[in-house]
Amino acid sequence: MCIVSNFISAYPIRASTPIVTSPLSIPLNVINAHQAIANPFVPEVVKAVDALHSEFRAVDNLVACNTTRVLKAFQNARVGSHHFGGSTGYGHDEAGGRGALDQAFAEIFGAESAIVRSQFFSGTHAITCALFALLRPGDELLAVAGAPYDTLEEVLGKRDSGGLGSLQDFGVKYREVPLAEDGGLDWNALMSSVKPKTKCALIQRSCGYSWRQSLSVNDIGRAIKIIKKQNPSCSVMVDNCYGEFVESIEPPMVGADLIAGSLIKNPGGTIAPCGGYIAGKQKCVDAAAARLSAPGLGVDCGSTPGDIMRAFFQGLFLSPQMVGEAIKGSFLIAEVLASKGYKVQPLPRVPRSDTVQAVQLGSREHLLAFCEAVQRSSPVGSYTKPVAGATPGYASEVIFADGTFIDGSTSELSCDGPLREPFAVFCQGGTHWTQWGLVLGEVLKSL
Ligand SMILES: Cc1ncc(COP(=O)(O)O)c(C=O)c1O
Repeated sequence: MCIVSNFISAYPIRASTPIVTSPLSIPLNVINAHQAIANPFVPEVVKAVDALHSEFRAVDNLVACNTTRVLKAFQNARVGSHHFGGSTGYGHDEAGGRGALDQAFAEIFGAESAIVRSQFFSGTHAITCALFALLRPGDELLAVAGAPYDTLEEVLGKRDSGGLGSLQDFGVKYREVPLAEDGGLDWNALMSSVKPKTKCALIQRSCGYSWRQSLSVNDIGRAIKIIKKQNPSCSVMVDNCYGEFVESIEPPMVGADLIAGSLIKNPGGTIAPCGGYIAGKQKCVDAAAARLSAPGLGVDCGSTPGDIMRAFFQGLFLSPQMVGEAIKGSFLIAEVLASKGYKVQPLPRVPRSDTVQAVQLGSREHLLAFCEAVQRSSPVGSYTKPVAGATPGYASEVIFADGTFIDGSTSELSCDGPLREPFAVFCQGGTHWTQWGLVLGEVLKSL
């Protein structure tokens, strides 16, 4: 396995490598006169791109490492065009590629087993199946990275679900370890927080709508060790949304029992039209599959039409590349908006743990203006104006700018945010960083 633990500092190329690839820095003698074009970016973006040369090269290296891992897994699963056939009806047996996809996915994520299915509605749905798989009445769920993502509140019973079957309705207790003051895990509190009834610990890798650091896989591994030391029978489930392929290792490789996420985020590679996944220990994945389907049916059921199976394989193959582009986009957003005095999280040029870049805009008007500028610059629905409103699963009003080919896809260039203090916008995705370069010009005009 190719490990890049700190992909920024691991490749100090700035001093020795001549700049040859930045479109803004291409020496005129390497392009022919007919190709010379006017500079497409505003000066702030030009400056940022030049400053980020070594970060961009380091991301390319990460992409190559993760692509190697994906290729090996595809080869080991003997993926062939016959796997793109899909299935109908019950989808029994190998079902048109389902078995090969699960096998490749499990290997890529360092898991014993995986279920990758179009039948998961979303990340929230996959995470819910994983939690219901691991918890039973009388157990306690402990969230160790502060409040989980907004859409999980009704799942846990933190917000009233109207008796529709939250974990609390089934007698599962819930507790949180708040984050430390610096926005990271509270390691001291964690040392004594796991009780005999704590049967599952939930770790959210990405920041969600909180102004906090996302967790590195190494930090997740350290937390797992602390949890298991206190109660070896406590399972650890990681909400892996937005974390996939951002590093060269994944949570099951550092001891997570289960991970779950969405295919219209990172691992769908902007191609998967729907779906989600769960991966981890065989027993836990079997239990999660029984939640998605029914006890007795498990992983061996459920059909997915052929065009979707092909998109799942192709999206998974492309995912490291698309995640790389999204990371470059996040570096660019941080660099440009920090230079204009906005607070950004993560800070410019620090290694990333997810694909999300948050920017504090300070007012409702600025948040709306930012999202409107992004929507105006999108390839789909550029003529529409995003409007803040109620969305299923969210307590706050939320605004989304997602001029994307797949509805709500956040592996494509998009941004969103809840209309509440500190009025932060959360930006993510993008099939090419240059799209963020162009969008930022429009954003700067409107702020
Ligand atoms: C950290 C995290 N977990 C879970 C989710 C929920 O994912 P979905 O919108 O696919 O339900 C999100 C959504 O953005 C998220 O940021």
